[in-house]
Amino acid sequence: MKRTEIVEILKSPKLNQEVLVKGWVRSFRANRFIVLHDGSCFGTLQIVVDFEKFPEELLKKITFHSCIAVKGKLVESQGAGQAVEVLAEEIEILGENNPEEYVLQPKHMTMEYLREKAHFRMRTQTFSAVFRVRHGIAFATHKYFNDNGFYYIHTPIITGSDAEGAGEMFKVTTLDVGNPPRTEDGSINWKEDFFEKSTNLTVSGQLQGEIAALALGKIYTFGPTFRAEKSFTPRHLAEFWMIEPEMAFYDIHDNMDLAEDYVKYLIKFALENYSDELEFLDNRIKQAEKNMKQEQRRPMGLIEMLRFVIENDFERITYTEAVDILLRSKPYKKGKFQFPVEWGRDLQAEHERYLVEKHFKKPVIVRDYPKAIKAFYMRENDGSEPGRETVAAMDILFPYIGEVIGGSQREERYDKLLERVKAQGIPEEELWWYLDLRKFGGCPHSGFGLGFERMVQFITGMGNIRDVIPFPRAAGSAEF
Ligand code: 4AD
Ligand code: MG
Repeated sequence: MKRTEIVEILKSPKLNQEVLVKGWVRSFRANRFIVLHDGSCFGTLQIVVDFEKFPEELLKKITFHSCIAVKGKLVESQGAGQAVEVLAEEIEILGENNPEEYVLQPKHMTMEYLREKAHFRMRTQTFSAVFRVRHGIAFATHKYFNDNGFYYIHTPIITGSDAEGAGEMFKVTTLDVGNPPRTEDGSINWKEDFFEKSTNLTVSGQLQGEIAALALGKIYTFGPTFRAEKSFTPRHLAEFWMIEPEMAFYDIHDNMDLAEDYVKYLIKFALENYSDELEFLDNRIKQAEKNMKQEQRRPMGLIEMLRFVIENDFERITYTEAVDILLRSKPYKKGKFQFPVEWGRDLQAEHERYLVEKHFKKPVIVRDYPKAIKAFYMRENDGSEPGRETVAAMDILFPYIGEVIGGSQREERYDKLLERVKAQGIPEEELWWYLDLRKFGGCPHSGFGLGFERMVQFITGMGNIRDVIPFPRAAGSAEF
């Protein structure tokens, strides 16, 4: 007999027919009711067991998260809470699960605890919801860009360049790290390394994405990126996924329009296709907030906030306006900010959160940042005040998350770009091809990067970024 997935049974139940289902036991109540899930959907199937028909030895093995196969008749449910149920005729134990030894329990477990049990945590309702939504947002990303005429480009994971100039890179080498070959002056001789040069894991696919955009017009990347920054925050990973669209002939305003449209599409897609998961996650937050003080609770429920974000325009301001707002703010005047506010300094998370959560109460796009604090490839704005030069950069800031997108118009003027490369001490010979793009058939172009996990966090309402990626990598942790 062929197995039927639970999603099929719930969608179009063929009543009074025999079915074979397989899955994991969520609960077994009163030796009579099994709640079974098989991963095909968020929903579960109730199995009704007449315990007199089965040996006690078998019934004892129907434990939390054990894996079973059940044959029986699908009927309209007698009880409340589900439309259909299966009257078990045959039960086979596929995988026993001794509850004495099993690390998960059918009771509240903290996120920290579950993180250490990442090989089992996907079986919980919370994580199965999160990872289904994560899949959905990844799928929606490809759909959005394909439907809008973008090409998906695979940029390299191993590279010799440092796209962000931040220097927080993981080295890639086959040299004996204990005893590397040296040049005459004593430095490591990378010529003897596998690639005959020094290489690292990519921090961004942008620079190679620009190559593609200047040939195919509109492209996007969607791949893993690596940053060796020791940020112990709920927003940073050492290995995260980024989506980087890059478009020829787009200026910074076209870029912001695209970014806003794309993230709204992702939210809409999740609301339309993952309502069961989002309702569960929404309730989960409401339950957790019951014991919190009013001011610690979210001003809106999860789904309510997602709707709010897609129904309202994002606020668009310049960096200079943002600084002015912060300087006039209550927390600034009362000395409540930990970090200084001053034109020329980068905005810190606390400043971003004030702008988004307190001042505007909606997503904010900040653009035209000081040139001195931004990456070398960002286009210098014409006519900025001397001493207050800015670049056409933009960040999208979300409630609870802060920066979800960073992007810019790219410096397409060869001389200006070369000047920035030199000023930032970037070895020119590393970027000869990038500079070539400005010499031969270049054009104005723009792009941005969306931190995929931060977006998943926003849509699922998960507090820690380590709980929206199956196997988080962060400083001091690379288990699984
Ligand atoms: O702002 P970032 O550093 O921009 C870039 O890498 C550009 N090359 C993008 C582009 O213009 N094509 O990173 C982009 C986004 C951030 O806004 C943030 O959402 C996410 O990537 N991000 C991280 N997410 C998780 N962990 C980290 N350590 C992250 N660093 C950045
Ligand atoms: Mg950034």
